[in-house]
This record gives sequence, C-alpha cells and structure tokens, in this order.
Amino acid sequence: MLRCEMLIPPEDIQAKVRELAHRISDDYGGRNPLLVTLLKGSFIFLADLVRHLTIPHEIEFIKLSSYRDGLHRSREVEVIDRLHSDIDDRDIIIVDGIIDTGHTLSHLIKTLSKRGARSIKVCTLLDKSCSREVEVPVHYVGFTIPDAFVIGYGLDYKERYRNLAYIATLLSESDSVEDTLEPERSGMVQRGVDAEHPAKATAAEGERTR
Ligand code: IMP
Ligand code: MG
Repeated sequence: MLRCEMLIPPEDIQAKVRELAHRISDDYGGRNPLLVTLLKGSFIFLADLVRHLTIPHEIEFIKLSSYRDGLHRSREVEVIDRLHSDIDDRDIIIVDGIIDTGHTLSHLIKTLSKRGARSIKVCTLLDKSCSREVEVPVHYVGFTIPDAFVIGYGLDYKERYRNLAYIATLLSESDSVEDTLEPERSGMVQRGVDAEHPAKATAAEGERTR
C-alpha cells in the first residue's frame, strides 16, 4: 500500500473544471481554438474540460517528458511525440494537468510560437507556482497547490494511479510491507491506496471515488 493524503476531492475537481470550461467558452466565442494537450498527465482533465465547452474547438496531443523517474525532476525536456496539426495562425490553448518548474511548458510555448501560432494561452488544473524555475504565462488555473508530489486524475507515480478520481499527495514512495500498516498507526493518512486496485481499495473504505 502506498501512503497518500487526499488533497482535492472529486466534486471540487469537477466544479473547477466546469468553471474553467465556462471561462474558456466566454473568452473564445467565434474563434475555434486548438486545445494542445500534454500527454499523458492531462488526458482526463481534457476529457472532462471539453465536455463542458460550449464553443467549436479542436483537440491535439503532444507528448513531452520532464519527469524521467517517478518523483525525480529533470530539466531536460524531451519531445517524445510531435504535434501533427497545422498550427499556423491558430489560437492555441495548451491544456496541462500540472505545472511545476515550468520547463516543459516553456519549451512547448517556444516551439508553438516558432510554428506561427496566432495566440497561445495556458490552462492547467494544478499549479505548483512556488516551484517555478522559469517564468511562464498561465491564464487559466484550477488550483494552486504546495510543492508536493501529487497523483490522481491523470497524474501518475511510476505510471500508476492515473485513474484516481481525486488528487492526492504522495507521502511515502515505498511500497514495503511496513508501509501497509502506516495509515492505522499514524492516523495521518486519510486514504490508503491499494497499489494493485486503487479505486476499489478506496471505495472499500467507504469513500466515493467517482
Ligand atoms: P515541469 O516541467 O517541472 O513544469 O513539469 C511538468 C510535468 O512534470 C507535468 O506535466 C507532469 O507530467 C510532471 N509533474 C510535475 N509535478 C508532478 C506531480 O506532483 N505529480 C505527477 N507529475 C508531476
Ligand atoms: Mg509522470
């Protein structure tokens, strides 16, 4: 079991996503923006966001990577899969799940600007603004969060836990047998996540996951 603590419950996420979609719909009326989405962490955010948009829009995906090894940061941004759409003269909204140091986004903004985008705005669900190393303009922010590693709602720890309906702070990265006893002992942990069946384990504790 992994030790984690709930940071943002599902209902707060859903309300915020609706609010962001309404703001975007108001701002982009008549402009058909292209939502460039950062894989993989933003896939759930995008899916929920577009279902609340009331304006014509298109979506695209791009795969960049800055976290190379679970929790550990890297400044090197690698483009793993390129953008296929023609972005010349398009109004771009970059959809991101979380901004941390800002290196990933800064790299992407430079790339899109060079390719002739008419305008570029950034929409992120989570912003760790206190961890910023390079300045990036962020126009739509869901939640500003402290500098802690978070999982859920698309965000992973070693490619897992993307399916959690809530955002949780990771308290311990070890999945040793010792850690399975930690929630009961300390009383600090609101939710224990079963490494094999995260959603099921949480539901079994009587808490809502969707
Ligand atoms: P940045 O380049 O430091 O801003 O990193 C942004 C990317 O790192 C995000 O798009 C995520 O993929 C990943 N990331 C940053 N913080 C977290 C976190 O707390 N949990 C999971 N992934 C994270
Ligand atoms: Mg990741």
